[in-house]
Amino acid sequence: MIEIAPSILSADFARLAKEIARVEAAGVSMLHLDVMDGHFVPNLTFGPPLVSSIRKVTDLTLDVHLMIEDPDTYAPVFIDAGADYVSVHQETCPHLHRSLRMIQERGAKAGVVLNPATPLSALEEVLEVADYVLLMSVNPGFGGQELIPEVLGKVRRLAHMRQQLGLTFPIEIDGGVTTENLAGVIRAGCDWIVSGSAIFHTPDPAATIRDMQRIAAEATAIQV
Ligand code: DX5
Ligand code: ZN
Repeated sequence: MIEIAPSILSADFARLAKEIARVEAAGVSMLHLDVMDGHFVPNLTFGPPLVSSIRKVTDLTLDVHLMIEDPDTYAPVFIDAGADYVSVHQETCPHLHRSLRMIQERGAKAGVVLNPATPLSALEEVLEVADYVLLMSVNPGFGGQELIPEVLGKVRRLAHMRQQLGLTFPIEIDGGVTTENLAGVIRAGCDWIVSGSAIFHTPDPAATIRDMQRIAAEATAIQV
């Protein structure tokens, strides 16, 4: 089942509850929340108070992507604020196994994220622990960048590794996904598709999501 996860990074923060209600009405089940600290990535976004405000206005699954230097300190705070899924970058976690287990023990699903330049071998030893794997298809920090096409080969290799190991974790992709490249992204093996500007910067985000859902259904049908 393909999930389209709108990233609120490109939404209008002054009208956030309405923006969320619009994408919820289009039938998504997951919302992607990008937390940036101005250190690990060259941008700042928001912290736990916004997550707890969002929690109050929606029942969507909240997928919190931590692009911060100290995820071990802050992951529990985001879980208390209402995060259902929390993903941490391999590049920020010297004790990645411990970080993933800690997130799970606190009651959330734990994802591991790789930057475009980080090889898949960096997560081989935690594939059985992670609940999902997020492959960045842009260098993290900003919405509206172009998808790095080489990442699709990495997705294919990860999907192959998953099959070889008999595992079932979802593969998430984040950055530069549009209605134009979505079919190729899905055929490469992605299950969860994060998309920000391609949804919120269109005149009718709900219609764009429905287009994406149709493209996803067609691409999945071809894959079978
Ligand atoms: C980038 C963030 C993404 C971003 C995607 O660092 O992790 O989630 O919002 O935005 P688009 O879809 O515009 O590339
Ligand atoms: Zn993200």
